[in-house]
Amino acid sequence: MALLDAFARPLRNLRLSVTDRCNLRCEYCMPEDDYVWLPREDVLHFEETSALVDVSALVKMIAAKPGLKDLALTTNGVLLADQIDALKAAGLGRVTVSLDTLRPDRFVTLTRFDQLDAVHAGIASARRVFGRLKLDTVVIRGVNDDELVDLIEYGRAVHGEVRFIEYMDVGGASRWSPDRVVSRREMLEGLTRRYGPVTPIVHESSAPAEQFTLSDGTVFGIIASTTEPFCRSCDRSRLTADGMWYLCLYAMRGLDLRAPLRQGASVDALKELVASGWQARDDRGAENRLALGPQRAFVPVQDLLRKDPHLEMHTRGG
Ligand code: 5AD
Repeated sequence: MALLDAFARPLRNLRLSVTDRCNLRCEYCMPEDDYVWLPREDVLHFEETSALVDVSALVKMIAAKPGLKDLALTTNGVLLADQIDALKAAGLGRVTVSLDTLRPDRFVTLTRFDQLDAVHAGIASARRVFGRLKLDTVVIRGVNDDELVDLIEYGRAVHGEVRFIEYMDVGGASRWSPDRVVSRREMLEGLTRRYGPVTPIVHESSAPAEQFTLSDGTVFGIIASTTEPFCRSCDRSRLTADGMWYLCLYAMRGLDLRAPLRQGASVDALKELVASGWQARDDRGAENRLALGPQRAFVPVQDLLRKDPHLEMHTRGG
């Protein structure tokens, strides 16, 4: 029997962060000059020795769990090419790479690192090892909104399904403003102008992306979290690298699972914590955010983010 939350959404989908120390500085996620990091001693063990070797060790442990249906890695791709064989051997099922621009100069402006070639190499390696992959693009007006067609073409070439994500006003996105959001509707209009009619694919899925096909069969997705939130079907929760469990990307508080874990709580006690946490879940953060209207209202960066790095998107894992 599935464990259901307050709105009958099943406990099913977990995003696990292995680090909060991203090696890029994308303006929609980590635009500030410096950050308050999770204290090292708090971070769950995998970071303590060589982080990347441990990611495949972690994948191996998780892949062995009974009941696991789908094990995927979301990454900026910078270090992927070197790790992909180990990850695959450890039991990883698929990969999603964040890719916001194909233009080297823009990549540097957006991320503050000259790593686009490394990302391309990561994408090529994912195609080699898994045959296909997903590509995540956060679309921002005036930054990369003129690249949707180029990204679709690139995706086709690398066997990558592109998913265009609406820019979200989540913690960390301190440069967000309503006029920088390119809506699902605008994206579809632009793609229709270039490719002709775009057909929605209708199917039951808990994936946040709505899928569409072009007339030549190319599939792409849109994640309209900002203008058309999908809280009612969202079954995703997130475990930060220091063991806090967040039941919504917008939640101000999470449940500390590290303390009971390190205090030696039994498997049954941990199960009970997770079950009661999930059963009480009544979050619908993106819908609440939309209802607030377009004014800038989420997490004021100076005060709150500095006090609690858990409110940052890079800590929660996007
Ligand atoms: N809006 C939308 N998506 C975001 N991500 C990070 N910050 C934001 C934001 N403000 C995405 C990243 C990555 C995923 C893990 O989260 O682009 O693809």
